[in-house]
Amino acid sequence: MTIRAAVFLDKGGTGKTTTTAHLGRALTELGHEGILIDLAGKQSDLAKQFGLYEPQQKAIENDEDFPNLSSVFDDDFGKLVKMNGADAILDRLIYETNEGMDLIPAHPGLDSVDGELNNVEDREDRYGRLKAFVDEYLEGRYDFILIDLPGLSRIVPYNGVWAAENIIAPVEMGSYEFGQLKQLAEDIDKYRSNWDIDAELTMVIPNKFERGTTLADDYMNRYQEEFNGAMAPNPVAKSQDIRNATEAGKTIFELEEPSATASRAKEAYLANARELVDRIGGKR
Ligand SMILES: Nc1ncnc2c1ncn2[C@@H]1O[C@H](COP(=O)(O)OP(=O)(O)OP(=O)(O)O)[C@@H](O)[C@H]1O
Ligand SMILES: [Mg+2]
Repeated sequence: MTIRAAVFLDKGGTGKTTTTAHLGRALTELGHEGILIDLAGKQSDLAKQFGLYEPQQKAIENDEDFPNLSSVFDDDFGKLVKMNGADAILDRLIYETNEGMDLIPAHPGLDSVDGELNNVEDREDRYGRLKAFVDEYLEGRYDFILIDLPGLSRIVPYNGVWAAENIIAPVEMGSYEFGQLKQLAEDIDKYRSNWDIDAELTMVIPNKFERGTTLADDYMNRYQEEFNGAMAPNPVAKSQDIRNATEAGKTIFELEEPSATASRAKEAYLANARELVDRIGGKR
């Protein structure tokens, strides 16, 4: 069975995209084959993370960008597959990164999807389109699927929650962030009861963690107390290398001489990836 998780928190900049990319790479290091899906919007940050932004922009300029991730949400996606065959469609949607995993990048067309799905009455049809796609075309082809979600409570991110059910939340140490996570946990309870799906806060990953500071220690204790079972085994260190690597279109796994903080972050991603497989694999 394919392990699925969506990286979500209703706040910008806590490290959702970074976490998706690096956990994906860590799972790859551990021998799993996977794919990342970028639902986080038009900046196409995951494509940038793997140096695929330029080729994607070129495809858009040359009108070679159809079908794309937004097509998956179309009423006519099924027809499109019937006409062209699944392989041809997947070939267009899926990019290969040079770090081992595949990627379905974001697309500007995703912007209008929320508006269109807003008119769909049937709940499962409205929120379950990505899940239908994943069930039909990706399940079984990959060992894992990680979905990068925008920090917004809207229909497209909810599609990510329906498709993945397991939610990973990267958090920083601070009262605002703590509040955001509590809100997310409450929201997940609501998804479970209102939508009758198995949504779960599977892993909370403290990110940009600065060891030995009182702030970090205090908040780690608060997070541990409140989210005990969901906490990741290792926090991810704050590291300038992570920023720089991202700017350079790669993960820190590609650095030849990682700094001490980057090495610690790498180990943390690997430990967290192992634990993720245990938590999700064990549930199925
Ligand atoms: N552990 C870390 N150490 C240092 N910088 C980090 C770390 N994690 C993420 N960053 C940096 O923080 C910034 C925000 O991270 P990222 O883009 O992953 O957040 P996000 O939650 O996806 O944001 P958005 O809500 O805008 O999509 C980026 O510049 C990234 O390189
Ligand atoms: Mg992001």
